[in-house]
Amino acid sequence: MRCFEGLGSQQMVKMKGGKWIPLVLTVLFGFMGHGSYSLFTPVDHYLIACGSLQNVTFSGQTFVPDSVQSSIALKSQYSIISTSNASAPFPVYQSARIFWSILSYKFDIKQEGRHWVRLYLYPLPDSGHNLTFASISVVTENFVLLNNFTFKNYNGSYLFREYTINVTSDTLTLNLIPSNNSVAFINAIEVVSIPDELLPDQAQSLSPSAPFSGLSEHALETVYRLNMGGPLLTAQNDTLGRTWENDEKYLHVNSSAANVSVSPSTIKYPPAVTPETAPNWVYATAETMGDANVAVGNFNITWVFPVDPNFTYFVRVHFCDIVSKSLNTLVFNLYINSDIAIGSLDLSLSGFLAMPSYKDFISTSAADTDTLTVSIGPDNNADIKNAIMNGLEIMKISNEARSLDGFSSVESLLVSRSKKSKIGIIIGSVVGASAAVAFIGLCYYCWFIARRSKTAHQPHPWLPLPLYGNSQTMTKMSTTSQKSGTASCISLSSPNLGRFFMFQEIMDATNKFDENLLLGVGGFGRVYKGTLEDGTKVAVKRGNPRSEQGLAEFRTEIEMLSKLRHRHLVSLIGYCDERSEMILVYEYMANGPLRSHLYGTDLPSLPWKQRLEICIGAARGLHYLHTGAAQSIIHRDVKTTNILLDENFVAKVADFGLSKTGPALDQTHVSTAVKGSFGYLDPEYFRRQQLTEKSDVYSFGVVLMEVLCTRPALNPVLPREQVNIAEWAMSWQKKGMLDQIMDPNLEGKVNPASLKKFGETAEKCLAEHGVDRPSMGDVLWNLEYALQLEETSSALTEPEDNSTNHIPGIPLTPLEPFDNSLSMVDGVNSGTDDDAEDAATSAVFSQLVNPRGR
Ligand SMILES: *[C@@H]1O[C@H](CO)[C@@H](O)[C@H](O)[C@H]1NC(C)=O
Ligand SMILES: *[C@@H]1O[C@H](CO)[C@@H](O)[C@H](O)[C@H]1NC(C)=O
Ligand SMILES: *[C@@H]1O[C@H](CO)[C@@H](O)[C@H](O)[C@H]1NC(C)=O
Ligand SMILES: *[C@@H]1O[C@H](CO)[C@@H](O)[C@H](O)[C@H]1NC(C)=O
Repeated sequence: MRCFEGLGSQQMVKMKGGKWIPLVLTVLFGFMGHGSYSLFTPVDHYLIACGSLQNVTFSGQTFVPDSVQSSIALKSQYSIISTSNASAPFPVYQSARIFWSILSYKFDIKQEGRHWVRLYLYPLPDSGHNLTFASISVVTENFVLLNNFTFKNYNGSYLFREYTINVTSDTLTLNLIPSNNSVAFINAIEVVSIPDELLPDQAQSLSPSAPFSGLSEHALETVYRLNMGGPLLTAQNDTLGRTWENDEKYLHVNSSAANVSVSPSTIKYPPAVTPETAPNWVYATAETMGDANVAVGNFNITWVFPVDPNFTYFVRVHFCDIVSKSLNTLVFNLYINSDIAIGSLDLSLSGFLAMPSYKDFISTSAADTDTLTVSIGPDNNADIKNAIMNGLEIMKISNEARSLDGFSSVESLLVSRSKKSKIGIIIGSVVGASAAVAFIGLCYYCWFIARRSKTAHQPHPWLPLPLYGNSQTMTKMSTTSQKSGTASCISLSSPNLGRFFMFQEIMDATNKFDENLLLGVGGFGRVYKGTLEDGTKVAVKRGNPRSEQGLAEFRTEIEMLSKLRHRHLVSLIGYCDERSEMILVYEYMANGPLRSHLYGTDLPSLPWKQRLEICIGAARGLHYLHTGAAQSIIHRDVKTTNILLDENFVAKVADFGLSKTGPALDQTHVSTAVKGSFGYLDPEYFRRQQLTEKSDVYSFGVVLMEVLCTRPALNPVLPREQVNIAEWAMSWQKKGMLDQIMDPNLEGKVNPASLKKFGETAEKCLAEHGVDRPSMGDVLWNLEYALQLEETSSALTEPEDNSTNHIPGIPLTPLEPFDNSLSMVDGVNSGTDDDAEDAATSAVFSQLVNPRGR
């Protein structure tokens, strides 16, 4: 009776309005099924693999590394990337960006409206940081998405979160905030447009029953999305990239439900419901009563969902009658919690079977319990006692604090960070200020690492250290072996890769990698002291054969080093790749790293003049890297442990494992993952991820300050304003009182003009912006000048001229060739020969006076 009325009234409406055509259209649409809909194409579609070095394919979708997306901006004081070799639950979790200060992703939004924001987190076990204890908050401009989330007390190995956010401007910023002193990380992010029609602004609220409006001003978090009685659907089965899981584990009583399914092609979408509402796979399966037609009146199927009782939930129930044989036979009730949401629901009121529909509700009544229940049960008046549900979505609605996690607002999360962190780096923005906290975290981290390596390798306080070499010896050796043409267990497999060593030779040289000969341990592997058959002392760097990244660095290093020959660059003697070993052989540098002559050891203090000469040597090496090769080479890890001293205290720049070729003509920068060492990193490099030669200049500025003040670049045990040498020394330099913090051993032994020049040079290197920093060639000139001032200190008063390009009245010491094109052609046979240097001096002189148009 009632059923008849239902059908009748539907037709009546259509007839009264005289709209036969729409009815026909409805029929047509209905039977054309989902195939007639053009698929939704999201205008904004960002799938970001954070910290990844390559595209990642997951669930049929391509996630692009965060470093290569031009329409997202990455703002951070400091972040590193990590790629896992261990098994991640899904490919998208294999890489991460790890950070200690607020990291912001800013997305250009082309179309305002609701967007999915999906976050992927997995604490990579082999990242070198204890990410399980990391604590992170994620906020947009308006909403708190995650508040102090940590895996420490989370029941799961990875975290996937999906939010919908109504974006009403042309950008969306995701701020990722580590808790105080914590590390934080992110593996992947999605920001994707959603069709406007998908989510309403208004829905029916239950108990009290009233319309709830303004939904679009809230952020939502998907807490459950179920494909009733059906298989797991993932992003590749859903045009909106959603995941629908099977409902079975939420059933209150397992036997109460029985699954049914039909072929998805039988699903006929009406105009108001599209595959974007839910894929046909959702509507083609359902749970029905486990024992249909039972007489018991109050039989029902109940699903129980744990929820946070402090929130209101948006509940969408999907229906599609795939069980009935004829119209109006299936009539049932829907309950949410203990409220009746719909009584006597007849799905065939539309006039069709297998036609999808959905109903939305707002559930506010979970406040006293931490579960939300959804039930269906037969209607007492129905002919057939059954009930059906095809899909269910439950979304958390943001609260008054505009949060989806706790009661802290965006402002309080951002501000609390900045309040607790007054250590001098006051940058005008909230983000900048908050970064300071992370800086403490960073210092703590350095201290921790330093302590760890100290305890692990007590005998070598200057660890971890890379490699040594000596280009002069190298040149002689190679020349000899080539001229003589004898094999004598030396084979030159490639004229550009130096000498090939057999593994046995390496074993003999290092006494089978005797741990007593261990010189250091670095990211790449271990460095041993060795002695070749002819008595030459060498440093043998043995890579860890399993590391893929290591293999890449190994190749980079061989290629790079074997092309570069310079008196102030550590160069390669040879290599061994037998038995999948990755071994590099360098000349032994008798006096080790510069750092060990500055502090932390009992070695005698170096006089000022010698320090200047060492800095000049290192500057020459870097200048050669930047300008000497066909393509500029950026060192990327300039620091006092990478400047090595030979037996005559000649400085050589070491460790090209991290090197990258500099800008080519068509590029303005090299965008790359942040690598390098704490305390030396160019602040612009953090911010913009843009690597230029000026990043090396910045790091070299830190080295200069370290040489003058004989203290580490970062020393977290010092008062806060002193922790970072760059800031500390700059504040004194700006007051013109650098002598106040210099090495006490130098007091009274430095010519003030020389010191002044040195301080000015370091200051320029440490300029905030790369464009304001001098080139390495200019730095070299200024250091030469400082040396001249020191040497002629008694005779000269400081000239007024501040120019960096020409210094009148001061005789210059010869500079050496940097345009070493010969060595590029034949890396083995050439090199820097002192005679050649002298011959080339005048040519180079003019080039340095007028550095190439840079
Ligand atoms: C990575 O994916 C993007 C987008 O699909 C594509 O444009 C790019 O060429 C891919 N890059 C590589 C290296 O495959
Ligand atoms: C449907 O029910 C059958 C029988 O109980 C079961 O074997 C099957 O796995 C279920 N299918 C789904 C998708 O749950
Ligand atoms: C989901 O998509 C994948 C890949 O296209 C396919 O293998 C799988 O069968 C699909 N699942 C369903 C339920 O259609
Ligand atoms: C569902 O059935 C159980 C008993 O099986 C009953 O206690 C409960 O009240 C029913 N729920 C509804 C909403 O009818």
